Amino acid sequence: YLQNEIPEGLQRLPGPKPLPIIGNVLELGSKPYLSLTEMSKRFGDIFQIQIGMRPVVVLSGSETVRQALIKQGDDFAGRPDLYSFRFISDGKSLAFSTDQAGVWRARRKLAYSALRSFSSLEGTTPEYSCMLEEHICKEGEYLIKRIQSVMKTDGSFDPFRHIVVSVANVICGMCFGRRYDHDDQELLSLVNLSDEFGQVVGSGNPADFIPILQYIPSVTMKKFVSINSRFTNFIEKIVNEHYATYDKDNIRDITDSLIDHCEDRKLDENSNIQMSDEKIVSIVNDLFGAGFDTVSTCVSWSVMYMVAYPEVQDKLHREILGQDRFPRLSDRANLPYVESFILEVFRHSSFLPFTIPHCTTKNTSLNGYFIPKDTCVFINQWQINHDPELWKDPSTFNPERFLNSEGTEVNKVEGEKVVAFGLGRRRCIGEVIARNEVFLFLAILIQNFHFHKIPDQILDMTPEYGLTMKHKRCHLQATIRLYLYPKM
Ligand code: HEM
Repeated sequence: YLQNEIPEGLQRLPGPKPLPIIGNVLELGSKPYLSLTEMSKRFGDIFQIQIGMRPVVVLSGSETVRQALIKQGDDFAGRPDLYSFRFISDGKSLAFSTDQAGVWRARRKLAYSALRSFSSLEGTTPEYSCMLEEHICKEGEYLIKRIQSVMKTDGSFDPFRHIVVSVANVICGMCFGRRYDHDDQELLSLVNLSDEFGQVVGSGNPADFIPILQYIPSVTMKKFVSINSRFTNFIEKIVNEHYATYDKDNIRDITDSLIDHCEDRKLDENSNIQMSDEKIVSIVNDLFGAGFDTVSTCVSWSVMYMVAYPEVQDKLHREILGQDRFPRLSDRANLPYVESFILEVFRHSSFLPFTIPHCTTKNTSLNGYFIPKDTCVFINQWQINHDPELWKDPSTFNPERFLNSEGTEVNKVEGEKVVAFGLGRRRCIGEVIARNEVFLFLAILIQNFHFHKIPDQILDMTPEYGLTMKHKRCHLQATIRLYLYPKM
């Protein structure tokens, strides 16, 4: 937009000078969360870069981000039309598509209520407080056995490789009413390839902004397209099985409940939002996709941090030691060190450095700066989680920062300063489930294992940039601590 199009009284956005054609791609580099954090020190909480020919507004600072996403939520609730997003769920994704506000809101509501009702459903036996707990406890037990047996045969294990199957099985249980064996090749090949997915949809991928790059053959892009189509085929097969065996008097899982919603809607002549059945049933793609990659990345990072900081691991063990039975969700409130550790993993790793890109839905202004409609907006969560204005020694990994001086309670206000799930209208809908999953899987792992690195090997904690940043795949060792409860 031109200088003279800026409404009176508003200012033009500051930012680095773009080069012709490529814009600021070179300054962005391969770690945009770091380069854009550096730029925020120079230009402030709101500045504009250009990726290719396209302007992108970058927001940092807790107050500014809260102002945009919460107080001016509707203005910033859109998603940009990015090249890579068109391949996700055939362009019908709830999280990544450019659905109009009404359609997106209706789908989000459906997704949220399906998730909530199937996670809080009663367990099959009274020993479990809910279905979510039952799934995690059972998968946790499989995971322990699995790690033990791999340790026996190989002497080391790849943490992500096994954690991701267990986490995927929890969301599979809720979405599809089934689980997969740890050796199931179909599931393995899907969940073990999520790295490439994240690398392509991470904020600032030049191919999303520079159209000419879309015509240049790229191995990563080819893999990305193939992962997406395998992913949709995998789910389509399961959805078709559900249609074939659907019984309205026996709703088995989230897929059934979405099919049921389509049937109900056909009887409801007053429904005012026009939506295809496909747009409703494909919600399950988003829930499954968002549900396994994020949580397994978080649990896997947590194990890495335990190995990197043995004194922290000792404290975790000491807190869990008092447990004379398998951990449960209700233990969360009584394990403040575990809770602080998880908060510090979210903060320090900031493994979702940016939210999914946002887009303005109309001409708007923020802190006196003009931002036109349809501008792509990056939210730098990493910057907020490492802002020296908010955190003492932000680069130090220190779970105690969230504890009161006696170490008996988590400081809620400090905890809420960590931004990992976005904020406002687009905030993650799986947050409660995710936090419970991370807690219970970790508590089970801590109770059962002592983790350490292979002697003489160096632990590499460098994150690989993407939508969800992963640690490099590696092997660790686990020694069994106690396993008093083979039967839960
Ligand atoms: C969106 C974080 C787990 C479902 C998001 C966003 C973030 C996020 C940062 C984007 C917010 C934005 O664009 O402003 C996380 C983290 C998780 C996690 C850190 C785990 C540790 C889950 C789980 C589910 C889920 C378990 C579902 C089962 C979704 C969905 C969206 C979303 C559907 C899209 C919402 C929308 O566009 O309206 N999440 N998430 N997430 N998340 Fe999560």
